[in-house]
Amino acid sequence: MRLVETVRELQALADAERAMGRRIALVPTMGALHAGHVALCELARRCADRVWVSIFVNPTQFDQPEDLARYPRNLPADLECCRRAGVDAVFAPPAHELYPAGAQTWVEVAELSRGLCGASRPGHFRGVATVVAKLLLAAKPHVAVFGEKDFQQLAVVRRLARDLCLDVEIVGAPIVREADGLALSSRNARLDAQARCEALCLSRALDAAEREVAAGERSAARVLALVARELAAAARAELDYAELRDPETLAPAREPLTGPVLLALAVRFRTPDAAVRLIDNRVLTPPLRERRDEATEAIP
Ligand code: PAJ
Repeated sequence: MRLVETVRELQALADAERAMGRRIALVPTMGALHAGHVALCELARRCADRVWVSIFVNPTQFDQPEDLARYPRNLPADLECCRRAGVDAVFAPPAHELYPAGAQTWVEVAELSRGLCGASRPGHFRGVATVVAKLLLAAKPHVAVFGEKDFQQLAVVRRLARDLCLDVEIVGAPIVREADGLALSSRNARLDAQARCEALCLSRALDAAEREVAAGERSAARVLALVARELAAAARAELDYAELRDPETLAPAREPLTGPVLLALAVRFRTPDAAVRLIDNRVLTPPLRERRDEATEAIP
């Protein structure tokens, strides 16, 4: 496995692989790798001949300096994880490689960056979009893989690739969970025992909403009331947002719910020494029969 630290070296490697007709898949990460990242690498392997992982804790996407300072960093462990996952190259640049002195160019995906995580983390998606554009230009991949865990991020990245006419296919990967349902996240390690237990309120709320919608509930207000009840059962969970959105445009879902709808959640846990914000989501699908009935009703 090759470790690359400069943009020039990565671009030269990309040119060489492309000249030999090989397909490259990039998995952008901020390190602290876990089974969710490994699943992205496995999907990348099915899409390409070469799997590359970038490891870069991107300063511009952190709205809180202490969040950036506390972000877990362990390059040797991450490299070992990549080696075991069969990754071909890791790109781990120093900050000045991606943000050269005097850098003043930003990528902003205007509409999709508003609301949800964009509302509580100002500037976050501008930082994400900017670094992802840089990583795609550095690695020149045919495919780039992103997790559905960060659903809004995936939507922002798809949009930026389309808007900037980038020659890359953006692939989404399903959320990987612990056995008890908690979505894997590098932030989970910062939960104390009680918060770890209460963090299950997220997946429980998603499960409950999924069951209701599958059983025919079509009122967004009632689905959100059910979600609020599930989240309220966790005494220390502070709700950031719980919203129903169109999975394609991220526009607020319209009443009644007739097609697939994204339920997106963000909850904050205050532990004695940190505030840990967890996100989770699921696309809920109303039963097919009702949707067909509706389509039939719509025919005059
Ligand atoms: P990071 O949080 O390290 O996540 C890297 C990728 O792993 C993202 O695409 C994320 O959605 C995915 N991921 C994280 N947890 C997952 C899980 N439980 N199941 C499936 N996929 C999961 O997201 C970022 O880094 C950064 O914003 C980045 C895109 C690298 C830009 O800096």
